[in-house]
Amino acid sequence: MTSAEIRQQFLDFFASKKHQIVPSAPIVVKNDPTLLFTNAGMNQFKDYFLGNSVPASPRIADTQKCLRVSGKHNDLEEVGVDTYHHTMFEMLGNWSFGDYFKAEAIAWSWELLTEIYKLPKDRLYVSVFEGDPSEGIPASTLALQEWKKLVAEDHIIYGNKKDNFWEMGDTGPCGPCSEIHVDCRSDEERAKIPGSQLVNKDHPQVIEIWNNVFIQYNRLKDGSLVELPAKHVDTGMGFERLVRVIQGKQSNYDTDVFTGTFEAIEKLTGNKYDRSDSKEAIAFRVIADHIRAIGFTIADGQLPSNTGAGYVIRRILRRAVRYYYSYLNYKQPLLFQLMPVLAKQFETVFPELQQQLDFVNKVVKEEEDAFLKTLDKGLKRMDDMINNSTDIIDGKAAFELFDTFGFPIDLTRLIASENNRTIDEAGFESEMQQQKSRSRAAATLDTEDWVIVSEEKGEGFVGYNLLSTQSTITKYRKISAKGKTQFQLVFNTTPFYAESGGQVGDSGWLDFGSEKISVTDTKKENDLIVHFVNQLPTNTAKPFTAIVDAERRLFTCYNHTATHLLHAALRKVLGTHVAQKGSLVNEESLRFDFSHFARLTEEEITEVEHIVNEKIRQNIPVVITEMPKEEALKLGAMALFGEKYGNTVRVVVVDPNYSVELCGGTHVMHTGMIGLLKITAESAVAAGVRRIEALTGSNAFHFLNKQYTELKTVAGLLKTQDPIKAVEKLMLEKQETEKRLESLETKQLQSIRDILLQKTKPILIGGEEGQFIGEIVEVNSADQLKKLCFDLKIGLGNHYFVVLCANIAGKAAVCIMLSDSMVNEKGLEAPKLIKEYATPLIKGGGGGQKTLATAGGQDASNLSELILQISRLV
Ligand code: ALA
Repeated sequence: MTSAEIRQQFLDFFASKKHQIVPSAPIVVKNDPTLLFTNAGMNQFKDYFLGNSVPASPRIADTQKCLRVSGKHNDLEEVGVDTYHHTMFEMLGNWSFGDYFKAEAIAWSWELLTEIYKLPKDRLYVSVFEGDPSEGIPASTLALQEWKKLVAEDHIIYGNKKDNFWEMGDTGPCGPCSEIHVDCRSDEERAKIPGSQLVNKDHPQVIEIWNNVFIQYNRLKDGSLVELPAKHVDTGMGFERLVRVIQGKQSNYDTDVFTGTFEAIEKLTGNKYDRSDSKEAIAFRVIADHIRAIGFTIADGQLPSNTGAGYVIRRILRRAVRYYYSYLNYKQPLLFQLMPVLAKQFETVFPELQQQLDFVNKVVKEEEDAFLKTLDKGLKRMDDMINNSTDIIDGKAAFELFDTFGFPIDLTRLIASENNRTIDEAGFESEMQQQKSRSRAAATLDTEDWVIVSEEKGEGFVGYNLLSTQSTITKYRKISAKGKTQFQLVFNTTPFYAESGGQVGDSGWLDFGSEKISVTDTKKENDLIVHFVNQLPTNTAKPFTAIVDAERRLFTCYNHTATHLLHAALRKVLGTHVAQKGSLVNEESLRFDFSHFARLTEEEITEVEHIVNEKIRQNIPVVITEMPKEEALKLGAMALFGEKYGNTVRVVVVDPNYSVELCGGTHVMHTGMIGLLKITAESAVAAGVRRIEALTGSNAFHFLNKQYTELKTVAGLLKTQDPIKAVEKLMLEKQETEKRLESLETKQLQSIRDILLQKTKPILIGGEEGQFIGEIVEVNSADQLKKLCFDLKIGLGNHYFVVLCANIAGKAAVCIMLSDSMVNEKGLEAPKLIKEYATPLIKGGGGGQKTLATAGGQDASNLSELILQISRLV
């Protein structure tokens, strides 16, 4: 079976068990402060487990793009060194939300593995949770009972909390789990040691493939567990491992999931993959693994950067670069050349990569180019450090590598460990902290657990149609960041739009009658709408009226609809490769980031503006409807990469032939309400991403009016009706005046030079005659003084000593020029003379070459004294 068939069979199997098949959520997580990346298939369903929202179907299955390189689940160190851990991997999963439980989940997993995939039963081992008295969690007797119906007892292993209690992160849904492991060793090996003894012992041939988690608890911040109202099933099967087992390979990398990439690496670098533990073989595995993480996260909208999720991507990319550079001896960008192979391979499963291939490649190549520039120097520096240390590499040095050469700390750690060194982690951390506190105070958010006020069900978000409504608080919690304390409130019904899709969250008021509370912002946390307030109402159980700041919302709507008009206009003018890469829409302005490879010309900007304003003047009704996603896509609706969409989507149409977008934001009713759009800036944000900033409505009008007024003022100053012509004339005159001035100054310098040459005083050097000049001259700039010095040279002989000073608008300028003989035979040096004589007298300093140095200073009153002192020396 090919990997594609294996994936399809999983989905078909669970579809036949009445599961709804859904697409993978984006790999980059938005709206969940506890996660940067999807690290398990269940992430996107977190709120269903917690009871915050209700799924469209109680049974769901999918294949989910996951990344385990940060936070609680982090496999980065193992990747490439072993043959079965990955940064990005696919997790096949089936879920029950309060529907079926252990009996079905266990029976189906067994049926799929043994009857559909036909894995030999005697090679499978299962584990069950033995319970944990310290947390008061009982052993999983039900799971054990179900397994006993299917599996011989000596194939059942009892596991502790570390192996058999699964948690998503430090907080959140969790529960006991039952894992399924496969023993892939030869019969001979198996006869020697039973597989049951190797389960969970990091044996490369006895590996876990499937985890069945029975979600029953929520872990709170204080560490306690609370039982959830319903019992759920959350399973995750490592797709790459499953393929390996079914295809009978010894390594995930020998399956057709990776072979295409390996062939491409061989062809491009001229190296051969030999499946060993050599550095070259590890490099193959690392690269083939890492490009998947890099490609899919960038396709989901996460650009490499210096912070957060972006830095995780940059780290992975640099790690891959270092492997091909050092071990495959390939010294130019490689990863971007492999991306087409990956994109083609996943075209039907995760099409977002193929659809944005040019863009992803541009970003990746630019990152590779940039790192390759510093890598060589950094590696040399690293070599020095290794040679200069016996076991520990200094934290300061590791920080220098990080800061100056862009070496992520895990890369330095890796190279250090390859050379039997460790890093002074504490020292590195303290350097890092010092830098952070230098640049800004770390913004850590401290969140307390939710306090439940009422279970009252409301209507959720009603803000598309209403700007105020009756409401009650269902729960609240305290948060603090940077010493500031706030509260987050959740309502049963709310008109407040929570920040998403680039649109800012609403602000407004809660009217409790006698008491009014301001809402400063509204955000989403997974599916929860969270309102930020500075103080709690006296009685949190009291009903109130929630009122949105209507004017702010309206101005934001202008900008949001204008963003859609702009997006469509850009695609018309620049081409359909333009895809939204980010946006910010608030009451003041709009910002739109999009994929495009070149700066926009003035003509293009004008044309885009022209199209948008025409659409505004046409006063087109904005029609918003909800419909099945398939139908919307058929209408040509533009969906954003990296956004999560449900089966039913909201479609915003401004003329079906002009702009159709999937969008959850708020909009004007007719485009005419926007009034006007003015583009105020066009710039680059990152490789392949441009940014447009624009104003709408009265803000655009004020902007234009201000410019008009300024122009009128300029015309007034120039006493003309045609300021452009007048300024052109002025510029021309200025040019001519400057030319005349320059020629006068040259003449002036010439005459000063002639006078100076007549005033030279004889000096004796090595029996030959030389000349000394020490004068205060009148020039207009330090540059002129220097030029004068140079010009003197032609008139002087082989031996000379010149010191010229000038008072330039009250400040001192000094220039000392020596003949070569003064330097070589007398041991004089112009910069030293400056330091010794000029610096103390002019209150300033300078430097230069041995034969010519200059200085400037605040005090021009001692110039005669300076010349006198130097004359004495001479
Ligand atoms: N959520 C479980 C895991 O990731 C299935 O292992």
